[in-house]
Amino acid sequence: MIQGELFAKVAFAYAEAENGRLNNSALYQRVGDPDKLKRKDPVGKDGQLHSLEARKIRWVQQTMKRLGLLQRVSPGVWGLSHQIKEQLHQATADVKMVAFSTTLGVAIWARSESVLPGLAPETVHLCITSPPYPLRYARAYGNPTEADFHEFICRSLEPVVKALVPGGSVVLNISNDIFMPGSPARSLYVERMVLALHDRLGLHLMDRIPWVNFSKPPGPTHWACAIQGGRKQLCVAYEPIFWFTNDPMKVRSDNRRVLEEHTARHLKLMASGGAGRDAQYGDGAYVLRPGSFGNETAGRIPKNVLMKGHVCPDTMEYRRFANGSGLRTHGAMFPTSIPDFFIRLLTEPGELVIDLFGGTGKSGLAAERLGRRWIVFEMIYEYLAGGSSAFKNFPGFEFAGMRPVSG
Ligand SMILES: C[S@@+](CC[C@H](N)C(=O)[O-])C[C@H]1O[C@@H](n2cnc3c(N)ncnc32)[C@H](O)[C@@H]1O
Repeated sequence: MIQGELFAKVAFAYAEAENGRLNNSALYQRVGDPDKLKRKDPVGKDGQLHSLEARKIRWVQQTMKRLGLLQRVSPGVWGLSHQIKEQLHQATADVKMVAFSTTLGVAIWARSESVLPGLAPETVHLCITSPPYPLRYARAYGNPTEADFHEFICRSLEPVVKALVPGGSVVLNISNDIFMPGSPARSLYVERMVLALHDRLGLHLMDRIPWVNFSKPPGPTHWACAIQGGRKQLCVAYEPIFWFTNDPMKVRSDNRRVLEEHTARHLKLMASGGAGRDAQYGDGAYVLRPGSFGNETAGRIPKNVLMKGHVCPDTMEYRRFANGSGLRTHGAMFPTSIPDFFIRLLTEPGELVIDLFGGTGKSGLAAERLGRRWIVFEMIYEYLAGGSSAFKNFPGFEFAGMRPVSG
């Protein structure tokens, strides 16, 4: 099981060691609590005496090996898998570093595809992510093409699906606003993606939930706003969020974890004992009886549309910190309320949430606040560096990977 807090300590110990290499006893000395290391407790059926502190450190070390963060240098000596000789901003295929961690989670600076195959046997309860959209004019971090998107997403998610618990979920926030070249018609890449995830990875579509955001800037510029485009389209105000599971009959969602407050009108209806009349609607499909809706319930079940603007205190705080630290800011964050909603709906405290394209770490932040374990992958160093400041007051916060490792 991921031990978030220790991740950064172990990574830091390797980063600080001469040539980035350590044998295990040196690792225990650097990371462990000296008193706990001395203490031996009976372990297993035969009750052999071992240091539980050393075992905990070794466990983290094993997970880091599986994830490819450590590599064997010589018998009994391990080192960080990449020695960074100069300041790299975008992780190449072999850069894998712990950026920061807390007791509950870890942010890894790497291309997610280079780390994920090592994820099993870690079990994932929810993968929530906003992948790079196939935009014609790519963001600073680049993107896959419209034609290849379904391949890209299947490749990225395959190891996650293998590690997903039965009834676990995958939630993808993508753009609906990809247009065919020279045309106001939308690309069908979204449909291709849904079919590919179903046919190739066995994921079942639970819902496509529009994230309605009226604060989106007017667009698509050419087809909605520019005279040359003929004003053919309406201005976009939503992005779809796709929710999949590997096993719909065991799906772990529970809408009681996301109940909203009843409206004043509904509270009044309940207080009055419910409907006071007999009525039928929809040719008898909906029947109202005296007392209907009179039962006292804990809250309102949310509709499957999320109405959320971009304004998010965490984003504002992130921008302040990143600008003040001279770090390039992210151009496409979601508000923390998006992962917060899905993490509550789809997981219980203590379960594992991962984000493959983590940006500034909003999914990790929401998971941390909700007491879920988390792993965030992100390939751009500056985004994690900027995002880390939101975690600094959480238990076990350690900041490890933002310094180059001397080679
Ligand atoms: C749409 S943004 C996600 C933003 C994030 N939800 C947030 O609120 O900060 C997509 C992110 O994926 C990252 N990315 C793209 N390809 C990646 C890869 N192969 N591995 C890890 N991160 C990647 C980009 O650098 C970018 O930050």
